Amino acid sequence: MVFRFPFHIAVGPNACYRYFWGTQHVLHFEVFDMTVPGHGLLSGKTGVIFGALNESSIAWAIAEAAYREGGRFILSNAPVAKRLGGLDALAEKTESEIIWADATSDEDLTNLFEAAKAQFGQIDFIVHSIGMGINVRKDKDYTELNYDWYQKTLDISAVSLHRIVTNAMNAESVRDGGSIVALSYIGGQRVFTKYSEMGDAKALLESIVRSYGYRLGKKGIRINAISQSPTRTTAGSGIEGFDAMFEYGEMLSPLGNADAASCADYTVTLLSDLTRMVTMQTLFHDGGFNNMGISTALVEALSDKLGR
Ligand code: NAI
Repeated sequence: MVFRFPFHIAVGPNACYRYFWGTQHVLHFEVFDMTVPGHGLLSGKTGVIFGALNESSIAWAIAEAAYREGGRFILSNAPVAKRLGGLDALAEKTESEIIWADATSDEDLTNLFEAAKAQFGQIDFIVHSIGMGINVRKDKDYTELNYDWYQKTLDISAVSLHRIVTNAMNAESVRDGGSIVALSYIGGQRVFTKYSEMGDAKALLESIVRSYGYRLGKKGIRINAISQSPTRTTAGSGIEGFDAMFEYGEMLSPLGNADAASCADYTVTLLSDLTRMVTMQTLFHDGGFNNMGISTALVEALSDKLGR
């Protein structure tokens, strides 16, 4: 809660009630919008955003931010997500068409990029915000992985980026100078035990970003990964121990955990021309977490536990 004069009471990331004393000492209140104003960063640009499932999805926030910045796009998700019905509201809000495509299916992706071409001609950006750890979901320890599930995890969470880029390039769908962004997690570079097989998937994803980055450079197309803080989403909360990892991030990071809305703001800068010389990077968007060893908050918590 934030008290100032007039009093502001935050009720969510984007809205705030403001109480103030009007003339004749009458208490008024109004609701005002706290969203970051658009800067037209994606004005005239078109793209495809993969992975918005519900309001908590990082891709949902990215779609809202891209729309705010003037971008227009197709929303895509796996056909199995259709029955959940959540995407219609986002499509309406962002004036987008939804094209269902399993990101592990070349056939679905070919159809998607043909449809994107029919709608927009060439596109300027692609966002890959897709992930699923099958063994993690089924509580299989890293030392006891079911290899069929492991394969599926890698296929959905990492190889899908390769497939998406390959299909987009084969369809000559991406304009020279375009930008591709994929979502990653620091568990791809350091061991976060409960992240298990997903650490391998993110390591592969980040490697694909580098390997494809070289090939795409000839066309001036950029590709980067954003390594995001733990974020409360469907995929995030499917990981055992997520709350502990979230709290650890909160206690270690000087700025605290980055939320989905700030990740979305960062993403649109990478999709914009302002970052036209940035490619093949894994860029940390984590409130400073990756550069920390231990924080005073954690030292104090451990000292309390040790009774010293
Ligand atoms: P989410 O569950 O909202 O998004 C994951 C999406 O992947 C869902 O929309 C799901 O339908 C889609 N998906 C799964 N299988 C698919 C398939 N075969 N074809 C097409 N789409 C498929 O969760 P969240 O957290 O927004 O995840 C987005 C990305 O962000 C993922 O890559 C995730 O690993 C990454 N990330 C998430 C963090 C977190 O703490 N939530 C932290 C760092 C990265």
